[in-house]
Amino acid sequence: MKSIVILISGRGSNMEAIVRARIPGVRIAAVIANRPGASGLVFAQANGIDTRVVDHTAYADRVSFDDALAECIDAHAPDLVVLAGFMRVLTDGFVRRYEGRLLNIHPSLLPAFPGLHTHRRAIEAGVKVHGATVHFVTAELDDGPIVVQAAVPVRADDDEATLAARVLAREHLIYPQAVRWFAEDRLVIDGKGRVSVRGGCSDEVSAWIVPALDAPTGEAS
Ligand code: GRF
Repeated sequence: MKSIVILISGRGSNMEAIVRARIPGVRIAAVIANRPGASGLVFAQANGIDTRVVDHTAYADRVSFDDALAECIDAHAPDLVVLAGFMRVLTDGFVRRYEGRLLNIHPSLLPAFPGLHTHRRAIEAGVKVHGATVHFVTAELDDGPIVVQAAVPVRADDDEATLAARVLAREHLIYPQAVRWFAEDRLVIDGKGRVSVRGGCSDEVSAWIVPALDAPTGEAS
Protein backbone atom coordinates (compact mmCIF):
# COMPACT_ATOMS: atom_id res chain seq x y z
CA MET A 1 0.00 0.00 0.00
CA LYS A 2 1.38 3.40 -1.01
CA SER A 3 0.48 6.42 1.01
CA ILE A 4 0.07 9.79 -0.70
CA VAL A 5 -0.38 13.35 0.44
CA ILE A 6 -2.05 15.82 -1.92
CA LEU A 7 -1.37 19.56 -1.75
CA ILE A 8 -3.98 22.00 -3.03
CA SER A 9 -4.58 25.74 -3.04
CA GLY A 10 -8.11 26.05 -4.37
CA ARG A 11 -10.87 24.09 -6.02
CA GLY A 12 -8.98 20.80 -5.98
CA SER A 13 -10.62 19.16 -8.97
CA ASN A 14 -7.44 17.21 -9.76
CA MET A 15 -7.30 16.00 -6.16
CA GLU A 16 -10.94 14.99 -6.53
CA ALA A 17 -10.17 13.05 -9.72
CA ILE A 18 -7.38 11.16 -7.95
CA VAL A 19 -9.63 10.36 -4.98
CA ARG A 20 -12.50 9.27 -7.23
CA ALA A 21 -10.17 7.01 -9.24
CA ARG A 22 -9.85 4.74 -6.17
CA ILE A 23 -6.43 3.60 -7.33
CA PRO A 24 -5.68 0.11 -6.07
CA GLY A 25 -2.84 0.09 -3.56
CA VAL A 26 -3.13 3.82 -2.87
CA ARG A 27 -4.20 5.39 0.40
CA ILE A 28 -4.76 9.14 0.50
CA ALA A 29 -3.18 9.97 3.85
CA ALA A 30 -4.02 13.67 3.81
CA VAL A 31 -4.98 16.68 1.76
CA ILE A 32 -3.08 19.81 2.79
CA ALA A 33 -3.98 23.33 1.65
CA ASN A 34 -1.98 26.53 1.98
CA ARG A 35 -5.21 28.55 2.07
CA PRO A 36 -7.86 28.02 4.74
CA GLY A 37 -10.59 28.78 2.20
CA ALA A 38 -9.46 26.23 -0.39
CA SER A 39 -12.78 24.82 -1.53
CA GLY A 40 -11.28 21.41 -2.30
CA LEU A 41 -10.99 20.82 1.45
CA VAL A 42 -14.76 20.37 1.61
CA PHE A 43 -14.71 17.43 -0.81
CA ALA A 44 -11.75 15.83 0.99
CA GLN A 45 -13.44 16.12 4.38
CA ALA A 46 -16.70 14.77 3.01
CA ASN A 47 -14.76 11.75 1.79
CA GLY A 48 -13.24 11.05 5.18
CA ILE A 49 -9.76 12.24 4.26
CA ASP A 50 -7.58 13.90 6.87
CA THR A 51 -7.31 17.57 5.91
CA ARG A 52 -4.79 20.13 7.13
CA VAL A 53 -4.11 23.80 6.47
CA VAL A 54 -0.64 25.30 6.55
CA ASP A 55 -1.44 28.94 5.86
CA HIS A 56 1.47 30.50 4.01
CA THR A 57 0.46 34.00 5.15
CA ALA A 58 1.38 33.02 8.71
CA TYR A 59 5.05 32.55 7.81
CA ALA A 60 7.67 35.25 7.36
CA ASP A 61 9.40 33.72 4.35
CA ARG A 62 9.37 30.81 1.93
CA VAL A 63 11.85 28.75 3.90
CA SER A 64 9.88 28.84 7.14
CA PHE A 65 6.63 28.06 5.29
CA ASP A 66 8.24 25.15 3.44
CA ASP A 67 9.67 23.82 6.71
CA ALA A 68 6.24 23.88 8.33
CA LEU A 69 4.69 22.30 5.26
CA ALA A 70 7.31 19.54 5.22
CA GLU A 71 6.69 18.83 8.88
CA CYS A 72 2.97 18.49 8.20
CA ILE A 73 3.62 16.24 5.20
CA ASP A 74 6.16 14.07 6.98
CA ALA A 75 3.75 13.43 9.85
CA HIS A 76 1.91 11.26 7.31
CA ALA A 77 5.09 9.56 6.04
CA PRO A 78 3.90 9.53 2.42
CA ASP A 79 5.52 7.57 -0.39
CA LEU A 80 4.38 10.26 -2.82
CA VAL A 81 3.52 13.96 -2.59
CA VAL A 82 1.13 15.21 -5.27
CA LEU A 83 0.88 18.90 -6.14
CA ALA A 84 -2.62 19.46 -7.46
CA GLY A 85 -3.12 23.13 -8.21
CA PHE A 86 -0.76 24.06 -5.39
CA MET A 87 0.04 27.67 -6.19
CA ARG A 88 3.28 28.19 -4.30
CA VAL A 89 6.82 28.25 -5.60
CA LEU A 90 8.71 25.73 -3.48
CA THR A 91 12.25 26.19 -2.18
CA ASP A 92 15.12 24.08 -3.48
CA GLY A 93 15.44 22.45 -0.08
CA PHE A 94 11.81 21.33 -0.14
CA VAL A 95 12.11 19.97 -3.67
CA ARG A 96 15.30 18.07 -2.80
CA ARG A 97 13.66 16.54 0.27
CA TYR A 98 10.98 14.91 -1.89
CA GLU A 99 13.11 14.23 -4.95
CA GLY A 100 11.69 11.39 -7.02
CA ARG A 101 8.44 11.34 -5.05
CA LEU A 102 6.98 14.75 -5.87
CA LEU A 103 4.62 15.09 -8.83
CA ASN A 104 3.00 18.19 -10.33
CA ILE A 105 0.45 18.84 -13.03
CA HIS A 106 0.88 21.84 -15.28
CA PRO A 107 -1.74 23.06 -17.75
CA SER A 108 0.43 23.16 -20.87
CA LEU A 109 2.46 20.84 -23.02
CA LEU A 110 5.78 21.47 -21.29
CA PRO A 111 8.34 22.73 -22.04
CA ALA A 112 5.95 25.18 -23.76
CA PHE A 113 4.33 27.79 -21.52
CA PRO A 114 5.78 27.27 -18.04
CA GLY A 115 4.37 29.68 -15.45
CA LEU A 116 0.95 31.30 -15.21
CA HIS A 117 -1.90 32.06 -17.66
CA THR A 118 -0.97 29.19 -19.94
CA HIS A 119 -4.30 29.06 -21.77
CA ARG A 120 -4.31 32.76 -22.58
CA ARG A 121 -0.70 32.57 -23.73
CA ALA A 122 -1.41 29.54 -25.90
CA ILE A 123 -4.27 31.37 -27.64
CA GLU A 124 -2.14 34.50 -28.07
CA ALA A 125 0.70 32.44 -29.53
CA GLY A 126 -1.67 30.88 -32.04
CA VAL A 127 -0.68 27.30 -31.23
CA LYS A 128 -3.03 24.69 -32.64
CA VAL A 129 -2.39 22.10 -29.95
CA HIS A 130 -2.34 22.68 -26.19
CA GLY A 131 -2.65 20.39 -23.21
CA ALA A 132 -1.37 19.30 -19.84
CA THR A 133 1.69 17.60 -18.39
CA VAL A 134 2.31 15.52 -15.29
CA HIS A 135 5.97 15.70 -14.30
CA PHE A 136 8.34 15.03 -11.45
CA VAL A 137 9.26 18.28 -9.74
CA THR A 138 12.75 19.72 -9.88
CA ALA A 139 14.08 23.03 -8.59
CA GLU A 140 13.23 24.73 -11.92
CA LEU A 141 9.67 26.09 -12.18
CA ASP A 142 7.40 23.77 -14.21
CA ASP A 143 10.33 21.63 -15.22
CA GLY A 144 11.33 18.05 -14.53
CA PRO A 145 10.97 14.55 -15.94
CA ILE A 146 7.73 14.25 -17.92
CA VAL A 147 5.50 11.30 -17.00
CA VAL A 148 2.47 11.77 -19.24
CA GLN A 149 0.91 14.46 -21.42
CA ALA A 150 -2.49 14.99 -22.96
CA ALA A 151 -3.05 17.19 -25.97
CA VAL A 152 -6.19 19.00 -27.05
CA PRO A 153 -6.93 21.09 -30.12
CA VAL A 154 -7.10 24.85 -29.82
CA ARG A 155 -10.23 25.90 -31.68
CA ALA A 156 -10.58 29.17 -33.57
CA ASP A 157 -13.37 30.37 -31.29
CA ASP A 158 -11.72 29.38 -28.02
CA ASP A 159 -11.33 31.81 -25.18
CA GLU A 160 -9.31 31.20 -22.06
CA ALA A 161 -12.25 29.55 -20.28
CA THR A 162 -13.26 27.13 -23.04
CA LEU A 163 -9.67 26.06 -23.62
CA ALA A 164 -9.03 25.66 -19.88
CA ALA A 165 -12.11 23.45 -19.55
CA ARG A 166 -10.99 21.22 -22.43
CA VAL A 167 -7.53 20.85 -20.91
CA LEU A 168 -8.87 20.28 -17.39
CA ALA A 169 -10.95 17.31 -18.54
CA ARG A 170 -7.73 15.68 -19.74
CA GLU A 171 -5.89 16.60 -16.54
CA HIS A 172 -8.47 14.56 -14.66
CA LEU A 173 -7.51 11.51 -16.70
CA ILE A 174 -3.74 11.76 -16.78
CA TYR A 175 -3.11 12.63 -13.13
CA PRO A 176 -4.76 9.50 -11.70
CA GLN A 177 -2.93 7.51 -14.38
CA ALA A 178 0.45 8.91 -13.33
CA VAL A 179 -0.28 8.22 -9.65
CA ARG A 180 -1.30 4.69 -10.54
CA TRP A 181 1.98 4.05 -12.36
CA PHE A 182 3.92 5.49 -9.44
CA ALA A 183 2.04 3.28 -7.00
CA GLU A 184 2.84 0.26 -9.15
CA ASP A 185 6.56 1.19 -9.02
CA ARG A 186 6.59 1.42 -12.79
CA LEU A 187 8.02 4.89 -13.36
CA VAL A 188 11.70 4.87 -14.27
CA ILE A 189 13.72 8.07 -14.77
CA ASP A 190 16.80 7.57 -16.93
CA GLY A 191 20.09 9.46 -16.62
CA LYS A 192 18.85 12.11 -19.03
CA GLY A 193 15.68 12.86 -17.07
CA ARG A 194 13.36 10.92 -19.35
CA VAL A 195 10.61 8.81 -17.86
CA SER A 196 9.52 5.41 -19.08
CA VAL A 197 6.80 3.16 -17.78
CA ARG A 198 8.19 -0.21 -16.75
CA GLY A 199 6.39 -2.97 -18.59
CA GLY A 200 5.41 -0.48 -21.28
CA CYS A 201 2.17 1.29 -21.93
CA SER A 202 0.29 1.93 -25.10
CA ASP A 203 0.92 5.15 -27.00
CA GLU A 204 -2.73 5.97 -26.49
CA VAL A 205 -2.09 6.16 -22.78
CA SER A 206 1.27 7.93 -22.74
CA ALA A 207 0.10 10.65 -25.11
CA TRP A 208 -3.62 11.24 -25.14
CA ILE A 209 -4.84 13.21 -28.09
CA VAL A 210 -8.41 14.40 -28.33
CA PRO A 211 -10.82 14.16 -29.99
CA ALA A 212 -9.33 11.17 -31.82
CA LEU A 213 -8.92 9.24 -28.58
CA ASP A 214 -11.71 10.67 -26.54
CA ALA A 215 -12.10 7.58 -24.41
CA PRO A 216 -8.69 6.02 -23.84
CA THR A 217 -8.82 2.32 -23.31
CA GLY A 218 -6.46 -0.33 -22.02
CA GLU A 219 -4.52 0.68 -18.94
CA ALA A 220 -6.50 3.82 -18.46
CA SER A 221 -9.64 1.97 -17.54
C1 GRF B 1 -5.05 22.98 -12.90
O1 GRF B 1 -5.27 23.51 -14.18
C2 GRF B 1 -3.62 22.55 -12.75
O2 GRF B 1 -3.05 22.07 -13.92
C3 GRF B 1 -2.94 23.84 -12.34
O3 GRF B 1 -3.86 24.50 -11.53
C4 GRF B 1 -5.17 24.06 -11.84
C5 GRF B 1 -5.72 23.51 -10.56
O4 GRF B 1 -7.05 23.11 -10.67
N1 GRF B 1 -1.67 23.56 -11.74
P1 GRF B 1 -7.70 22.22 -9.52
O5 GRF B 1 -7.47 22.96 -8.21
O6 GRF B 1 -7.05 20.88 -9.52
O7 GRF B 1 -9.15 22.18 -9.86
